[in-house]
Amino acid sequence: MQVEVITADVTREENVKKYVDATVAKFGKIDGFFNNAGIEGKQNLTEDFGAEEFAKVIAVNLNGVFQGMAHVLKQMREQGFGSIVNTASVGGIRGVGNQSGYAASKHGVIGLTRNSAREYGQFGIRINAIAPGAIMTAMVENSLKQMDPDNWESAGEQFVSVNPMKRFGKPEEVGGLVSFLLSEDAGFINGTVIPIDGGQHAMY
Ligand SMILES: NC(=O)c1ccc[n+]([C@@H]2O[C@H](COP(=O)([O-])OP(=O)(O)OC[C@H]3O[C@@H](n4cnc5c(N)ncnc54)[C@H](O)[C@@H]3O)[C@@H](O)[C@H]2O)c1
Repeated sequence: MQVEVITADVTREENVKKYVDATVAKFGKIDGFFNNAGIEGKQNLTEDFGAEEFAKVIAVNLNGVFQGMAHVLKQMREQGFGSIVNTASVGGIRGVGNQSGYAASKHGVIGLTRNSAREYGQFGIRINAIAPGAIMTAMVENSLKQMDPDNWESAGEQFVSVNPMKRFGKPEEVGGLVSFLLSEDAGFINGTVIPIDGGQHAMY
């Protein structure tokens, strides 16, 4: 397997264009695109959230996803195939609280996904979103530390105690879903949002 590593700040369009161009130069095509970069932002009530923090989260989570899609879709339309998976969140389909920027951006990612899926299905391109619940990564660790800096591990246990599966998800479980959506096995799945949250979205 050949791997090309390119670093990019997704808030900068020229960086996004660069990683897309470099990929096409090296591999000649883009079969699949996992549009995953995201930040949570500082947790706060809406009135205290702050316009600057709001803009910062939107710049990465929504503008970054849009720019990635725009540049990759141009290539995929030319080649006549491709699959995109955008990372939304449970915070893109439910109100989590204290996350104005995150909520707006992730609801927006779902809107972008549905809009572009409608446009590009005719060109043989599928665009889907995933909506992870609590997956144990650096982001969740930081989030728990914002809630309870001294007892974040027990805060984590409490956090997942209401989940039907009573645990955090694993990054590799998300990876499995993304691989499936990018593969031909998912050849007729388009424009959908798939929760991966241990069943939390199904709860009353
Ligand atoms: N962990 C969870 O519970 C959870 C739940 C729902 C959604 N998500 C989403 O999953 C995605 C991955 O998050 P994670 O949990 O692995 O968090 P993470 O903090 O471990 O990883 C986020 C990644 O995004 C990158 N990134 C941040 N800003 C960037 C920028 N401007 N340009 C390029 N890259 C940038 C970071 O370098 C990092 O590698 C995010 O979109 C996040 O919102 C995570």
